[in-house]
Amino acid sequence: MKTATVSNHAQMSPPTTNKHLIRWVEKMAELCQPESIYWVDGSKAEYDRLCQELVDGGTFIKLNQKLWPGCFYARSAPNDVARVEDRTFICSLSKDNAGPTNNWEDPFVMRRKLKELFRGAMRGRTMYVLPFSMGPVGSPMSQIGVQLTDSPYVVVNMRIMARIGKAVFAEIDKDEKRVVPCMHTVGAPLEPGQEDVPWPCNDEKYIVHFPETREIWSYGSGYGGNALLGKKCFALRIASNIARDEGWMAEHMLILGVESPTKEKTYVAAAFPSACGKTNFAMMIPPAGFDGWKVWTVGDDIAWIKPDANGQLHAINPEAGFFGVAPGTSPKTNPNAMATLSKNTIFTNVALTPEGGVWWEGMTEAPPEELLDWRGNRWTPEIGKTTGQPAAHPNGRFTAPASQCPSIDPSWEDPNGVPISAVIFGGRRSTTMPLVYQAFNWSGGVYMGATMGSETTAAAAGATGKVRRDPMAMLPFCGYHMGDYFRHWLKMQRSLSATPRVFHVNWFRKDASGKFLWPGYSDNMRVLKWIVDRVRGRAQGKETPIGWTPHFEDINWAGLKITRERLKELFDELQTVDRAAWRREVMDHEELFLALHDHLPPEMIYERELLICRL
Ligand code: OXD
Ligand code: MN
Repeated sequence: MKTATVSNHAQMSPPTTNKHLIRWVEKMAELCQPESIYWVDGSKAEYDRLCQELVDGGTFIKLNQKLWPGCFYARSAPNDVARVEDRTFICSLSKDNAGPTNNWEDPFVMRRKLKELFRGAMRGRTMYVLPFSMGPVGSPMSQIGVQLTDSPYVVVNMRIMARIGKAVFAEIDKDEKRVVPCMHTVGAPLEPGQEDVPWPCNDEKYIVHFPETREIWSYGSGYGGNALLGKKCFALRIASNIARDEGWMAEHMLILGVESPTKEKTYVAAAFPSACGKTNFAMMIPPAGFDGWKVWTVGDDIAWIKPDANGQLHAINPEAGFFGVAPGTSPKTNPNAMATLSKNTIFTNVALTPEGGVWWEGMTEAPPEELLDWRGNRWTPEIGKTTGQPAAHPNGRFTAPASQCPSIDPSWEDPNGVPISAVIFGGRRSTTMPLVYQAFNWSGGVYMGATMGSETTAAAAGATGKVRRDPMAMLPFCGYHMGDYFRHWLKMQRSLSATPRVFHVNWFRKDASGKFLWPGYSDNMRVLKWIVDRVRGRAQGKETPIGWTPHFEDINWAGLKITRERLKELFDELQTVDRAAWRREVMDHEELFLALHDHLPPEMIYERELLICRL
């Protein structure tokens, strides 16, 4: 077996002294039979070389460097475009520990299956040994993984999304830190003489987690959350298990800091399901009328939240980049995201312009006259109209360094994290849910998060407009029984000197004619300011059956070009708590609770009863 194939690399000896790691790499190489092994150093030179190899191999197209400096473009195979929830498994020793919201398989049976699948799976390819730190290297809140992968696309994306390479090996050697082993193959071995394809993958896919042994095995996909194992697999599914055992929280949350004109800084974490505007909210630019206010971005997808010695919650963003959905992102909806992705970014499954740039639905008001779509076919607005096919895949992505974000918080890499004062839940709800309300207390807040729901959109399979319960936006990401997860949330209160205030927001309420009542985007700052004022104890709240809501006067309406009377009407409609609708809503919570009943903490039942009484 050769020890390296990456061009210009001579024989490599392992850049680590960790015997367990070296032995594991040897054992896995015996299983997967790669042509060579390459130890990733994480340098820019290595990144450039790998990108060039991806260009030479047809996976990457180098974009027009005048328009998109340092940017590359990839098209995946059409059957490898998104996370595969139905192929994602939590293989805990007992099925009961995975709970009814996860797929489960007996770990012994699954290991046998995976061994079969991985045997010889890397033939003809290089096995990259990719050490990564989720969170700043050396932070007491960080965790380390090593991913073995036969996908150079994964290596270059991971270099943006995590801290990788030499510094991480040094960290492993220094402390003999626990390392989460992450196995990944695209499942497309090459026979001698066989030509490779631009996007190798396998029709069969397995995304498997062993929570007790803290291992990840991913087979058959090269895309996003299936393949960049530091993200959903480690930072949420495995980390949620570690966090439960160690008394902290691994959450599907953005983190942002609100700075007031007096330079007071308040950090909040917010959980919204996918496609509900997390990245936009994390990078918001306040509207006119908010002079001196600024929103700072710490993270847009994942938060690791831990109590410090004084019982104050602190959060880090374990990631180093944004793996964002491109369609809908524009200079209007998210100028900070557009600036972030303007250079050194990898685009996947968006459309390609004749000038060697990228485009996606919503980027500009009118589409370009001609494009190559995400499958590589010619696309014009006319063709799009006739076929109904978008130019970019709805899940087309950008992988961009967080450090390039104009609103990146100066403390985003603070090894001790940022102090969290509020938790916000939200979903896409056209009825029932007011624009904003605050839970009465922590357990009411946990109930609020546990029962949060979001309407399915046309982009997802199944009926549209149906409310899907997505507790804390963790339905696809909680690595153990959801009922135990609620219990963990409740238990966290015991280690806190002050619990964060808990809020629910809904940017998507509609009027009787089906029109959105709230403009969203930068106007969400009005709601965020009320949240900050509540946290700081200087805003009024009105008591309602579901929690505290703002009075009209509590919100800063400055800068809006609507009469005060009309605004008041609008606000009243947005904040309406319709008791009949709420009684139906609470009945609806029953469905999830029944599914989780044998692990459901009693507090959830009490909270539900209390809510019913108040209604
Ligand atoms: C994501 C997701 O990719 O939630 O962040 O699906
Ligand atoms: Mn996400």
